[in-house]
Amino acid sequence: MKKILVTGGCGYIGVHTLVDLIENGFDVVSIDNNSRSHASILHGVERITGKRVKNYPVDLCNFTDTQAVFQENPHISGIIHFAAYKAVGESVEQPLMYFDNNLNALINILRCAEEFQVPHFVFSSSCTVYGNPDHVPVTEETPMKPAESPYGYTKQMGEEIIRHLVKTSPLKTVLLRYFNPVGAHPSALIGEMPLGKPANLVPAITQTAAGILPEMKVFGQDYPTRDGSCVRDYIHVSDIAHAHTLALHYLMDGKNETSCDVFNLGSGNGFTVLEVIQMFEKVSKSKLNYTIGPRRAGDVIAIYANNEKAKNVLGWECRYSLEDMMRTAWDWEQKLQKDLPGYVDPMLN
Ligand code: WQD
Repeated sequence: MKKILVTGGCGYIGVHTLVDLIENGFDVVSIDNNSRSHASILHGVERITGKRVKNYPVDLCNFTDTQAVFQENPHISGIIHFAAYKAVGESVEQPLMYFDNNLNALINILRCAEEFQVPHFVFSSSCTVYGNPDHVPVTEETPMKPAESPYGYTKQMGEEIIRHLVKTSPLKTVLLRYFNPVGAHPSALIGEMPLGKPANLVPAITQTAAGILPEMKVFGQDYPTRDGSCVRDYIHVSDIAHAHTLALHYLMDGKNETSCDVFNLGSGNGFTVLEVIQMFEKVSKSKLNYTIGPRRAGDVIAIYANNEKAKNVLGWECRYSLEDMMRTAWDWEQKLQKDLPGYVDPMLN
C-alpha cells in the first residue's frame, strides 16, 4: 500500500481525509502537535475504518523532529499538508505568530519532501486567497486580490513558495482552495472540535442550538445581497476530504498538466447566512436564538466557486447538500455534548 503522510491529521479536515484515504486503500501516518486539535479524534477514525492511525506529536517548526519522522517512515508516496493556524480574527491580532507558524511549517515539510524524495505534495489552500472578488463565481484564474487577513496572506505566500520551488524541484504538487468546509462524517464519530468560542458560522449555530452559547449573532444584514447577509460557498467536509484522495491519484497517475495545479473546492452554490440558519432550523426542528449584529471586519460580501475544473479534471462530485451539511453538523454537536457535556475546548482561553 502506498503510504501518505498527513500533517494536521487530527484537525477537522485532516481527520476526515484520513478516513477517505484509508477507505481508498492508502496507508496513512499523521504529524500533529495537537496545539489546536485532540489526538483522541483518531479513535473515531479507528471505529469507522478499523485502522489505528499513528500520530507523531511533532511541531513542524522543529526541522530536526520533523526530519526524524521521515527517517522512521521511508518511501512515503505523498504528503498532504494541512497543519496551519486558521483563525482569521486571531491572525489579525497576532500576525507574526501566523507568519512564523504557517510559513516555517510549510518550508520544513517541503525541505523534508526534497531530502527524502517524496514525489507528490497536496497543499491545503483557501478561497481566502481571492480576497474580495469583483465577480462571482470565482474560477482558478480569478486574480488574487490583497488578502483580507494575515491568515489569508499565509495561504497566498504558501502557494507562491510552492510555485517557485517546483520550477527547479521534481516535486509534483496540487493546491486545493477550500471554500467553507462544514458538517461532519455521517457516522458522527468524527467532526469539528472548535477551540474556545467558535469563530466560524456553523459551529456557532450548533453550539447555540445545544445551549452552550446563549445566542448567536449574524454579522450584518445590510450587505448588497438577496437578504442583506453575506454569501458563502458551504461544502461538506467529507466532499473536501475525497478531493484529496482524487488529487493524489491524479498526481500518481501522471495526469497532472503542470507541476503545480490549482483546484477550487466549493459546491458552486452561494448561500446567505440567514439561509443557512433557516436550513438548520428546518433540520433541527428548532428555532435558533440569534440577533442581527454589526458587520465583522474583514468579511467579504459574497464569494462562491466555479468548480468545473475539479469536476472535469479530478472527477470530483459534491455528494452532500446544504441540508446534509446541517444535519451532520447537528448530529455531531449532539454526540459531542453527550460524550463531553458542555464541550467548549478550554485549550484556548
Ligand atoms: C461565514 C459567514 C460571517 C460567525 C473563514 C476563512 C476560510 C475558512 C473558513 C479556514 C460570514 C458569518 C460567522 C458568526 C456570523 N477558514 N458569521 N456569525 O469567514 O467565510 O471563512 O473560515 O479554512 O479560509 O476565511 O467563514 O464561518 O467565519 O463566516 O454571522 O457567529 O458567517 O460574517 O459572513 P469565513 P465563517
